[in-house]
Amino acid sequence: MSTKLTCRKLFLGVALASTSSLVATGFALAEETPYTVKDGNKVDEATYNGWKTYKRQRCETCHGATAEGGAAFPNLLTSLKTLTKDQFKQVVLEGRKNMPPHKNNKAVVENLDGLYAYLKGRSDGAIPATELDKIQ
Ligand code: HEC
Repeated sequence: MSTKLTCRKLFLGVALASTSSLVATGFALAEETPYTVKDGNKVDEATYNGWKTYKRQRCETCHGATAEGGAAFPNLLTSLKTLTKDQFKQVVLEGRKNMPPHKNNKAVVENLDGLYAYLKGRSDGAIPATELDKIQ
């Protein structure tokens, strides 16, 4: 009787453990790296367009050329370590306090995924703060 119970508990434990590792794997796959980098400064097209957008749409006038911010502006390299992609999109589109909304900025709206990918890559230390090229 008591042996049976122990066995059942053990089985349940193993079943739960493998379910949670499957779930963990699922999450890891869902959050796959949004950018590709090659030869140091070559990136995929969406990320490249994100970099252009960061410069052309004046994110850099506030957050700085290296995205590291300043006294009144958040360091986006730090922010992107905790912000989810949805939170990122929300603040960029809707704005917040002194951060202006960009939902009427066509270039930003169209390149939002690339903008996220570029900043995520910068935040991960995978993309340098230099001029970038497109992977051919
Ligand atoms: C006029 C200055 C200005 C411009 C231009 C600007 N930002 Fe911001 N941004 C801010 C300020 C100020 C904050 C902090 C808002 C707050 O206090 O809640 C902020 C916050 C953010 C955040 C949230 C950071 C966090 O830790 O929660 C992100 C992401 C962001 N900006 C991205 C961008 C991107 C991408 C662009 C270009 C499309 C951009 N910003 C353009 C001033 C600016």
